[in-house]
Amino acid sequence: RGSARLAERVTITVDGKEMSVPAGSLLIEAAQDEGVYIPRFCWHKRMKPVGMCRMCLVEVEGPRGMLLTTACTMRVNDGMQVDTQSDVVKKAQEGVLEFLLINHPLDCPVCDRGGECPLQDQTMAYGPGESRFVEEKRHFEKPIDISELVKLDRERCILCARCTRFSDEISGDPLIEFVDRGYGTQVLTFPDEPFASYFSGNTVQICPVGALTATPYRFRARPWDLEAVESTCQQCSVGCRVSLQSSQNTIVRLNAVDNDATNHGWLCDKGRFSFEYLSSPHRVGTPLVKGADGEFAEATWGDAIGLVADRLRDADDTRVAALGGARGTNEDAYAFGKFMRTVVGSPHLDAQLGDGLDPQLVVGVTPRATIPDLETARAILLWGPDLKEELPVLYLRVRRAAQELGAKLVVVHPRRTGLDDVAAHKITYRPGQGPAVLRRLAAGEGELAEARAALADGPVVALVGRPGLAEDPRLAEAVAAFAAGLPDAGIMPLERRGNVVGALDMGLSPSLLPGRVAIDDAAGRAALAEAWGADLPEGDGLGAAGILAAAEAGDLDVLLLLGADPADDYPQGNVADAALARTPFVVAFDLFLTDSSRQADVVLPVSGFGESEGTVTNVEGRVQKVNRLVPAPGAARPAWSVLEDVAARLGASLGAVSAEALSKEIAEVAPAYGGISWDLLDFGDGREGVVVPGPEATQPLQHAPADPAVQPSARDLVLHLARVLYDDGVHVRFGPSLARVVPVAAAYVHPNDATRLGLTAGTLVTVAGDRGEIDLPLGLDESLAPGTVYVPFNLDETSELGNALAVTLEAAG
Ligand code: SF4
Ligand code: SF4
Ligand code: FES
Repeated sequence: RGSARLAERVTITVDGKEMSVPAGSLLIEAAQDEGVYIPRFCWHKRMKPVGMCRMCLVEVEGPRGMLLTTACTMRVNDGMQVDTQSDVVKKAQEGVLEFLLINHPLDCPVCDRGGECPLQDQTMAYGPGESRFVEEKRHFEKPIDISELVKLDRERCILCARCTRFSDEISGDPLIEFVDRGYGTQVLTFPDEPFASYFSGNTVQICPVGALTATPYRFRARPWDLEAVESTCQQCSVGCRVSLQSSQNTIVRLNAVDNDATNHGWLCDKGRFSFEYLSSPHRVGTPLVKGADGEFAEATWGDAIGLVADRLRDADDTRVAALGGARGTNEDAYAFGKFMRTVVGSPHLDAQLGDGLDPQLVVGVTPRATIPDLETARAILLWGPDLKEELPVLYLRVRRAAQELGAKLVVVHPRRTGLDDVAAHKITYRPGQGPAVLRRLAAGEGELAEARAALADGPVVALVGRPGLAEDPRLAEAVAAFAAGLPDAGIMPLERRGNVVGALDMGLSPSLLPGRVAIDDAAGRAALAEAWGADLPEGDGLGAAGILAAAEAGDLDVLLLLGADPADDYPQGNVADAALARTPFVVAFDLFLTDSSRQADVVLPVSGFGESEGTVTNVEGRVQKVNRLVPAPGAARPAWSVLEDVAARLGASLGAVSAEALSKEIAEVAPAYGGISWDLLDFGDGREGVVVPGPEATQPLQHAPADPAVQPSARDLVLHLARVLYDDGVHVRFGPSLARVVPVAAAYVHPNDATRLGLTAGTLVTVAGDRGEIDLPLGLDESLAPGTVYVPFNLDETSELGNALAVTLEAAG
């Protein structure tokens, strides 16, 4: 599909210079790749050309001599002769700029775009020098809020249609459009409908003037006083490439960097704007120790670490457990696992919080798919979370594959998803019915025959995860087992939290050792024990559910939390709360006092995103660098260095002298990470990331489709508990801009169910499961299968509900 044609080369001549360029490419891009820059405003390499601004006019030889034409709409032909600098071209460029400036206000000194504005720059380079127009310019109210995050100044708009095309073609939420005609043409949102897109920040970044500006950045810095470094977004596990930008040691902006493998130059708004939490006044900057009165008091590092070491020394090894590590770097996670297994001697550790997949599926599934595989897929099966809510830029990539590249998309989910409008087949099912639906899909039965047929044409990419937290996670394994038999299939297990795949790869799981080695792999165990110079703990380790159950039963002495907030993130918040309350000594390595770390006995402040260096691994298994730009607040420092100090107090060492030293050790002892170095990722071929290999041999997937233990009858309600992009997590709660866009929690049912139950929208209802209940206003959602109640997870205490599949719903009170 086009790639074969692009592999062919043709020869064109631009400004007298011969160049060999891909056949069929656009002249503006082909020339740029060969070092000839043609000015432009409306053209963007990730969107279809429209030829609207006329800034890219060049002369191309035609049958009647040289002809002025737009380079962004012209495809190259063999023998094409092009002049980008003739007098005719220069006059055209001057004319275009003179026209664009007729109505452009002289806002440059106070405009956010000043200093990095294509209109400023191109006026200087190609403009006429002065204008002949003296007439009054157009005036609009300036600026207007078109959402909580974006302001629009219509006077500055040059009508290039980048924002409107992005919203329509790329993100699929066309909430910004041109209105009126002729002189009155203006870009605007619809009346009473804010620009409530999860991707609105991209329009700010690609607007070639300061017409669209971001509220979180407005007036905070000028381009010339920004420091910048490239990094990898950690708000979810897509791992989008970003430019981190700071002013006066405070991160003030994140812009997208175009990584061909992952984000194509886009970010979601959570990734782009959540940086505000880093400079929150609520950050913990000093170690805190809880006194007998239950209040935290500030402590020195020496005292806090001494206390932690004492309690660990006194504890029975197997009564110590660890949760977390999925929010930091691979180096932090590796140090945490090594600390637990060699210094403490406990096998109980888990980076997941009962909301993910079986680690063996995540690291062991074959054949694997990468994000770029979506570009050549003929069919895509998505049976997992709503990507728009959980992995937003992966949603953009799937959308592109289905809409632009012709892949047949089959979506299976309990309610509507962001991709339904581009799906060839959408299968909505009632939670709990997943195994039965899978059997019918595999057999191509009844109305699922067409969806099954769509998956018969490979290559097929299967994106497999947990559609909701109340469903049996083993459903994903059954779906993966089915997908593995599809033609030329590649499977991508979907995990959400920033570096959860990296943490599992570093062995933060009871069933894994660093480098994708199974815990029962005798040779792998022996090699690691030798490299570490320590015996590995024997016996079965506990995962998150087992650890919290043991804690709740009073079977733990010490619980270590590394950036983990089980009180909010574990699907049974009440269980996590009880577990934390019952554990005699809880240590939290954290940035904030969360609902969990507030219950700790010692809180150790650690550095966060942009404050420390290291590597991270995304949902595909792609390792990328994260870099340091600003200092951590107060005495906060990297988790690995705190762990090294605790180890030293216990007479041991992790060998953690620096993050880079840890990274080198990982490359030596973790087989899948062999050969990955910071030099490779920063300067070498690995700048777009290096995908770590899966297991060499195909391992048969273990689980057959599981029917739910509880089979609710048709009249009972079943729970669909799923995450939304903006929830009550600390990164959203402590960032003022995103905190304003968090939705209000509600319990949604199909209108027929509301009628059956005699309830109307807005009524306060009580939803109850076997481990908790919660009062919420009732919402109606026609996309739900009848008999289902949908509750967004971790919004206004919805974690307290628990994740039992069968629930009841009745009017509150
Ligand atoms: Fe172009 Fe910006 Fe105007 Fe949108 S607001 S049409 S991106 S100039
Ligand atoms: Fe960050 Fe994920 Fe959004 Fe990309 S999709 S910007 S990684 S939160
Ligand atoms: Fe070609 Fe705008 S860049 S017309």
